[in-house]
Amino acid sequence: MPTAPRSAANASGDPVELPRLRRRLLSWYDRHRRELPWRSDNPDPYAVWLSEMMLQQTQTSTVAPYYAAFLKTYPNVDALAAAPREDVLAMWAGLGYYRRAHLLHDAAKVVADELGGRFPETVEGLMALPGVGRYSAGAIASIAFDVSAPILDGNVKRVLARVFAIRDLQSDAKTIAKLWQISGEIIPRKRCGDFNQALMDLGATVCTPKMPLCDTCPLNRICLARQRDLVDKIPPVRKRLKPTRMDLSAFVIESGEYVLLHRRSDSGLWAGMWELPNAEANGERIDAVCEAVLPASVCKTLSRPVKARAVQHQLTHRTVRFNVYRATCRKSRVPKPFQWARKDNALPLPKAFQKVLSAISP
Ligand code: ADE
Repeated sequence: MPTAPRSAANASGDPVELPRLRRRLLSWYDRHRRELPWRSDNPDPYAVWLSEMMLQQTQTSTVAPYYAAFLKTYPNVDALAAAPREDVLAMWAGLGYYRRAHLLHDAAKVVADELGGRFPETVEGLMALPGVGRYSAGAIASIAFDVSAPILDGNVKRVLARVFAIRDLQSDAKTIAKLWQISGEIIPRKRCGDFNQALMDLGATVCTPKMPLCDTCPLNRICLARQRDLVDKIPPVRKRLKPTRMDLSAFVIESGEYVLLHRRSDSGLWAGMWELPNAEANGERIDAVCEAVLPASVCKTLSRPVKARAVQHQLTHRTVRFNVYRATCRKSRVPKPFQWARKDNALPLPKAFQKVLSAISP
């Protein structure tokens, strides 16, 4: 087995001594690691993969209850693969980025049906699974199989950019390539999963974007940004793009204990999730919008829609503003992809629509 490199450098050739960095980071991790439910001395590849899929673009505190619920309901990959898609999506409701739930279920089927229930142990093998990119593959391979595979997410980018004093914009392809290279050079040959998770934890708890705790950082005597008084300048601030706004008319159509839901298509925003019937607001009269959006059987007995309050919901890159209309009707049969759902059940709706319902409930 080749030995791990003993030093790495930024583009200007400034070297960082790696055995010291590895030693200090791992011993810090032994004392200060975050206690997270998916961390274990004897990791189950299925549980590691599940956690990494959930952790894509989502905070650890948000993921924890979903992770526990999924593991309880689907304790292994065969159970998840055999579950109806609807059930998996319903359990994912509220976690956001719903495409991940589809990809999770697709990948579970590949592992269960084509790979005999065993997860691939290499980065390439893992990346062939739906929903597993380079970062997740590195995290899974290193944590579940102790493979010396690099990772790079927002936290790790910041830590490495500071330690190696890389001042370039972190969204540039060249910077990203350089940081991946460094991440590959610094990783040890043993305790690879711990090392990668130490980088994540250091970024999340010490080497934070604002007011980093350099005095207690295990890498403070190695960090080139600290030596050069550049910590506050790395990463450089990028002008924020204004979030785009989306105006929707949403309909709360009630019939006694039931509310009308619609299932979204399998691609795009909220893919495959249930929603309140809605349409982009385009200035058209509301009864015309109703007719366009609702099934004819509902329109036949529909009361005049009454405007309730407006509700705003923030997605990562979009602000969604709902104008909410309420109406009642007789409970007729509705064609797919509509369905009546009991209001007192937990409805499998994305947060945005849950917010709409709680805003109008008494
Ligand atoms: N973010 C992504 N993967 C993670 C992990 N394994 N631990 C903590 N945060 C993470």
